[in-house]
Amino acid sequence: MKTEPRCIVAPSVLSADFAHVADALGIIEETSSQWIHLDVMDGTFVPNITFGAKFIEDMRPLSSLIFDTHLMVDKPERHIQAFAQAGSDIITVHSEATTHLHRVIASIHDEGKQAGVSIVPSTPVSAIDLILEDVELVLIMCVNPGFGGQKFIPASMRKIAELAALRKKYNLDFRIAVDGGVNARNAGALVQAGVDVLVMGSAFFSSEDKRSLVAQVQGLDS
Ligand code: DX5
Ligand code: ZN
Repeated sequence: MKTEPRCIVAPSVLSADFAHVADALGIIEETSSQWIHLDVMDGTFVPNITFGAKFIEDMRPLSSLIFDTHLMVDKPERHIQAFAQAGSDIITVHSEATTHLHRVIASIHDEGKQAGVSIVPSTPVSAIDLILEDVELVLIMCVNPGFGGQKFIPASMRKIAELAALRKKYNLDFRIAVDGGVNARNAGALVQAGVDVLVMGSAFFSSEDKRSLVAQVQGLDS
């Protein structure tokens, strides 16, 4: 029997009822999930608008899990300090959303936080090659960001394999996360391909037995 989870599970509160977010955080904490994924959308970089730093700050005392903030906002350099001070542990920005990616990553580190970079489905892994040694996390979007409940784009698997190969080649230790369309059916193949972090929104919140779901994808007996 395995006792160590083979991956990190990060339920996304995007699929929770925002009017009862405290309950959602409690539900996540009752499972063996290690992180909470926080999707910040600005209505410009992506078509949807979600929440800002105050919402995260208000959630912070309600959970002891790692706050994994995914900024789907244009020019994220304007907001790093606010999301750091709100209590994020990891801040991920999109390579497509800023010209000076290296500087933004450095500013996340200056705030004492872990830095992640994300790419949308149409962005190749080569676009972030030169930043790989500077980040703790690479978030591969497996759907077009903006909404939960979309279907996993199969070509994402190729990107994960390519990224895992680069990590090995350069002897780096960033984590690989996947976001969008992740569920109990594809989790095994994703981990097999080199994924360390599974973000799950709709699959988690629509599950009738969330504790078993998380244990199952972590490779643990429930
Ligand atoms: C989508 C967000 C995701 C979203 C995933 O743009 O970045 O984190 O919550 O939702 P599911 O798991 O339903 O695809
Ligand atoms: Zn996300």
